[in-house]
Amino acid sequence: MSKFGKMKESSRESMSAVSLSALNDAGLSPREVDSAFYSNAFGITEKQLHIGPLINTSLGIPEKPSIAIESACSSSSAAMHEAYIHIASGADDICLVAGGEKLSHLSTMEATSYFAMGSDYAYEAINGVTFPGLYAAIAVAHMNKYGTTQKMLASVAIKNHENALSNPHAHLHRKLTEEAYLESPVVAYPFRLYDCCPFSDGSSAVVLASEEKARELKDELVEVAASERAGSVATLQERKDITGIDGAELAGRKAFRKAKISPSEIDVAEVHDCFTIAEIIATEDLGFFKKGKGGEAAIQGETALGGSLPVNTSGGLKAKGHPVSATGAAQLHELYEQLLQKSGNRQVEGAEYGLAHNVGATGGSCTVHILKRRR
Ligand SMILES: CC(C)(COP(=O)(O)OP(=O)(O)OC[C@H]1O[C@@H](n2cnc3c(N)ncnc32)[C@H](O)[C@@H]1OP(=O)(O)O)[C@@H](O)C(=O)NCCC(=O)NCCS
Repeated sequence: MSKFGKMKESSRESMSAVSLSALNDAGLSPREVDSAFYSNAFGITEKQLHIGPLINTSLGIPEKPSIAIESACSSSSAAMHEAYIHIASGADDICLVAGGEKLSHLSTMEATSYFAMGSDYAYEAINGVTFPGLYAAIAVAHMNKYGTTQKMLASVAIKNHENALSNPHAHLHRKLTEEAYLESPVVAYPFRLYDCCPFSDGSSAVVLASEEKARELKDELVEVAASERAGSVATLQERKDITGIDGAELAGRKAFRKAKISPSEIDVAEVHDCFTIAEIIATEDLGFFKKGKGGEAAIQGETALGGSLPVNTSGGLKAKGHPVSATGAAQLHELYEQLLQKSGNRQVEGAEYGLAHNVGATGGSCTVHILKRRR
């Protein structure tokens, strides 16, 4: 993955560079790729659609098939799922997945307006609600139903900023104190600045191979033990309960069934913390903690490094950054390094199973991957 933050390159240049670097890491030349799956949800802001053939051309493989996958904030994990299906079906042996976004050329107002197009434009965006507002509604509902507190939300932000300090790829390298959190401006009650992920540029890529091919390439492997997707009712106002995300719960259950493990066997998780409340509900939806207990677990340090289940060791979307289409593949990048024990100061010792949870918009589309270390 690239360094997240602000980049000079276009998405197309950055996605080509990380693709090449992932292929190098796998010991492959671009010519060995059977199909490529690319995500660049906000490419229109760079006046560039149909990015696949452009990246393939710069990789020197214009003849290879490529496709663009858009699933809002879960775009590259959805692309990863499609690649997984291609390989599982026997159609392909080696697939390339890459996601990238450049947003720094937009003002906050412009970026917020583009992002709002990922909600129900006719009912949500048109009435002025944006993503901080939608997730703030989820937070208020969770606070009312379960007694989740602002201090619990703060503990998620403080932990993720701390984790990002030892991640060289992270956008925000800034230690956060509770005092600074409480002094920061309100964005959409109950969210303050530090409850929100930033707008980031960046790219990430994954190379996926059939078991046979992978064994020829590497001694130490990471296996995709499960790649599952599910959906939820698209808009908040039509859901029975907004204190959890049905699609995430379902994708999680399917993934645990497929991997034949239980939530307690996961050693490290990257979850979709676009806002602090999103991490709390993700840890509940995935069955790591009981409903309503995710905030308590966070404030007690259960999800910190050294806790019972370290969550978002990368710094998460909150501090590593959230270049929308790069996020899903970047979560997999973090797990890949964790499972191969390459995470330096933020290593979870002996991690065998990692889970990535990636949500599009407010959960209309959800993807859960479980990765396993193979020796
Ligand atoms: C929170 C938000 C409104 C802040 O935007 P802003 O007020 O225009 O902030 P600016 O870009 O002017 O940055 C001001 C400072 O705050 C920092 N900053 C910006 N967003 C930040 C964030 N989310 N967390 C921590 N610091 C942040 C900047 O680095 C900058 O610091 P500096 O002055 O030291 O350089 C914006 O980041 C946001 O809307 N985030 C949510 C994005 C989103 O909805 N994503 C989709 C999720 S589904």
